[in-house]
Amino acid sequence: MTFRTTSASADYVEDVSPGSGALPPRAWYASSDARSLSLNGSWRFRLSAAADAEDDSFAAEGYDAGDWAEVTVPGHWVLQGHGFPVYTNHLYPFPVDPPRVPTENPTGDHLRVFDLPEDWPDLAEGGALLRFDGVESCARVWLNGTEIGEFKGSRLPHEFAVGGLLKTVGNILAVRVHQWSAGSYLEDQDQWWLPGIFRDVTLLHRPAGSALDFFVHASYDHVTGEGTLRVDSDVDGRVTVPALDIDVATGEPVTVPVEPWSAETPRLYDGELVTPGERVPLRIGFRTVALEDGLIKVNGRAVLFKGVNRHEWHPERGRALDLETMREDVLLMKRHNVNAVRTSHYPPHPAFLELCDEYGLWVIDECDLETHGFVEQDWRDNPVDDDRWTPALLDRAARMVERDKNHPSVVIWSLGNEAGTGRGLTAMAEWIRGRDASRLVHYEGDVDCRDTDVYSRMYAFHEEVERIGRGLDGGTLKRRRLPLILCEYGHAMGNGPGGIADYQRLFEAHERLQGGFIWEWIDHGIKDDRYGYAYGGDFGEELHDGNFVCDGLLFPDRTPSPGLVEFKKVIEPVAISGDGADGTVRIANKQDFADLSALAFTWAFQVDGETIESGSLPVPALAAGESAEVKLPAPPEGVPGGAETQWTVRAVLAEDTAWAPQGHVVAWGRLPVAARALPSVAATEGPVPDGALITLGPASFDARTGALRTIGSVEVTGLRLDVWRAPTDNDEGAPWQSDVRHGELWRKLGLHRMRHRLDAVESGGDALTVRTRVAPAGWEVGLSTVYRWTSDGNRLRLTVSVTPEGDWTVPLPRLGVRFGLSGADAVTWFGGGPGEAYPDTRAASQVGRWRSTVDGMQTPYVRPQENGARADVRWAELGGLRIEGDPEFWFSARRWTNEQLDAARHRTDLVPGGTVWVNLDHGQHGIGSQSCGPGPLPRYYLNAAPAEFSFVFSEVR
Ligand code: GAL
Repeated sequence: MTFRTTSASADYVEDVSPGSGALPPRAWYASSDARSLSLNGSWRFRLSAAADAEDDSFAAEGYDAGDWAEVTVPGHWVLQGHGFPVYTNHLYPFPVDPPRVPTENPTGDHLRVFDLPEDWPDLAEGGALLRFDGVESCARVWLNGTEIGEFKGSRLPHEFAVGGLLKTVGNILAVRVHQWSAGSYLEDQDQWWLPGIFRDVTLLHRPAGSALDFFVHASYDHVTGEGTLRVDSDVDGRVTVPALDIDVATGEPVTVPVEPWSAETPRLYDGELVTPGERVPLRIGFRTVALEDGLIKVNGRAVLFKGVNRHEWHPERGRALDLETMREDVLLMKRHNVNAVRTSHYPPHPAFLELCDEYGLWVIDECDLETHGFVEQDWRDNPVDDDRWTPALLDRAARMVERDKNHPSVVIWSLGNEAGTGRGLTAMAEWIRGRDASRLVHYEGDVDCRDTDVYSRMYAFHEEVERIGRGLDGGTLKRRRLPLILCEYGHAMGNGPGGIADYQRLFEAHERLQGGFIWEWIDHGIKDDRYGYAYGGDFGEELHDGNFVCDGLLFPDRTPSPGLVEFKKVIEPVAISGDGADGTVRIANKQDFADLSALAFTWAFQVDGETIESGSLPVPALAAGESAEVKLPAPPEGVPGGAETQWTVRAVLAEDTAWAPQGHVVAWGRLPVAARALPSVAATEGPVPDGALITLGPASFDARTGALRTIGSVEVTGLRLDVWRAPTDNDEGAPWQSDVRHGELWRKLGLHRMRHRLDAVESGGDALTVRTRVAPAGWEVGLSTVYRWTSDGNRLRLTVSVTPEGDWTVPLPRLGVRFGLSGADAVTWFGGGPGEAYPDTRAASQVGRWRSTVDGMQTPYVRPQENGARADVRWAELGGLRIEGDPEFWFSARRWTNEQLDAARHRTDLVPGGTVWVNLDHGQHGIGSQSCGPGPLPRYYLNAAPAEFSFVFSEVR
């Protein structure tokens, strides 16, 4: 005899169907005149440990929830003190046995009592809908004691007809939310698992004759310059667009001259759909998306995506975003020259798409679908290839397309992410094409492009991208005729991504390459008193993927990371280049649509990094794709000999725009004129023994070890060769990367524990020479290192000569000297800035005169790692010392050692000591993107090779 003990009342949780009771999906809009009532706010809340631990009596009228906790809706209960968030990348955090889920299934009962506003229309007039914009992962809903349905599809809207159930006062809305459900198998995106009612809950009045669903078709004919508008509506009515003199019936096409919509010129026309019972505002953008000549074209022109992947994230509220946060994302994107966004990996809050329409961003709208965990069983039993799940997939596709179809910004539908391949995906693609032929279909997992209109890849190495650009990659006939986009590249985890300028060069060189989307927009760090920001594992998860969830161009608080500053420069819409000595600058408009009339140009002439004269530069309003040589003014006179001079030409906004003020810098270029004179120190002094010390010019040294002690009154400790850097996430590489991972090799070789053997201190003639051998225990490789000190009485010159010994098969992390200063705060330098740079992340580094502080020079990566180096530094001043480089050097300073930085797991582990540690590097190894993607290109390797470099020290008084 067998017993089935599962309560039948919770069976829906493990049912593969999308649910029951919800209305068919339709366009999402805010009515002009129909009433609505937000049910956001404080709700009563009770957490239980299993789907059926509590009965449903809480939904009944008269239930007393007075002793329940409260949570804020929209929100996730795990971020409001009930349970904990869980982070996994692709592994399901529960046993894989679809559609079954664990018995331990955190279940949140939510209760909200509400009255209708006094001016709410008579309940007999029209109906009412209850709309949930997003609930993770499965919800069952009751209104006034009557069950109205249950649903899955976390980031998709669900509406229920509730008119007949409403009362004027004392309505009781009860929602039971289960963290795990059959739907969880379709939502295995790389992010925190965050249950809850995390988007708005709204009651919508539906007057008789109100609009139900409508589809705005607004195309643009780039040959005639005309747009054609047709609004299909379930309820007949009229469509007006005053600026275009349009007043037509629904379903009737009208063609008029228009200004087209593009991400660069987001021209929207305000219109209205008027049905017998409702007025609906329309924001219409005319544009035509087509696959033509093997290219994605909008309004007849191929577009280049300079995109980012955006998850919804807020460090305190998770995926419950308010409008201001969404707007901040859009403004930050626009201000950093981003022109496209893939809504990885689910449709965003609908208000985000309204912002994309308004400010101008191309959108790949992605369905809420990922089954990545099945890769571990070679995709066996993958729901997307199992007909039983197809209704759920089609439901998800329809909920996305119907909700978002009226947004001009959405140019491509994406079936989902990392879900293998299968019949379910094909069914989704077919349904989407049947419903909306005006956009293209994307899915990265479809390498043969059976179901897609674009060949999409993630993290392809530069070499392969180039082969694809040249059409040498083979593949199916269909694929060979399609353009490539990198739906993910440039993995922005920790310090990096490196090599994005090299990708951009490829995109711009081969028309088949239509750009890409950086992974990803923002770090998903959770604000946490213990750690600053928490990542995977910080909540005791039994399975987790650590800080792989912090891989964005923004820090969790939305401060741009150096990666975003670099990206902004790499994708700038205007190229400014030239040789400053010949007095002309080349300006190229790299946009796809807009001319340069929105921009003004300025020039500045700089001497040793300081601007001495500046002015405006007249530049013609070049059309998209055009370029011109523009004459610079005559350089200022009286520049002292030996000074370094350069022009900096900037393209700035000519007027205030919706996204940035007048003067905002969009693009810039540096045109060098004269190089600086390298520092020279005549070796006029010699070393002088002085008891336990040796003095040389302004400096003193330990007579036995040759160690530098003081320069003038400045104490210096521990100056010696340094090759170690706290490995970056990209140095460490992802465990699944098959190619070399340098972080691991460096540790294996012991580069973090180099020993310094003293071979000789030679004090003779005009120099103090210290000979050493720097090498790790256990290996025969080493670096023969000679420090040669000379002085002219005031200044002290150090020349370091390094000769590798043995068979060095790995590059060095860094090569330079480091030393400690007993105090330093303010820092000034002439060189690259204002932010950090590394060999393959240096496009945004501007040569100039910069000021900061030791603390200000740190980049606060959520997991501490090498950071903060300034490139091309000619000289720097800190802690009473001036340091000049021959040649230029990489400069960093911090209140902890590289070893302490390496040991830290969170920012809070970094405790400032009394010493400021300064690194002056002759070389740094490239950064690459190997936390998910290629390592540094070989040209950015810091190979162990003979090297000689010098610094000149003097005391600044
Ligand atoms: C991709 C995936 C993303 C994310 C990224 C690595 O494979 O689509 O969701 O996991 O890798 O951060």
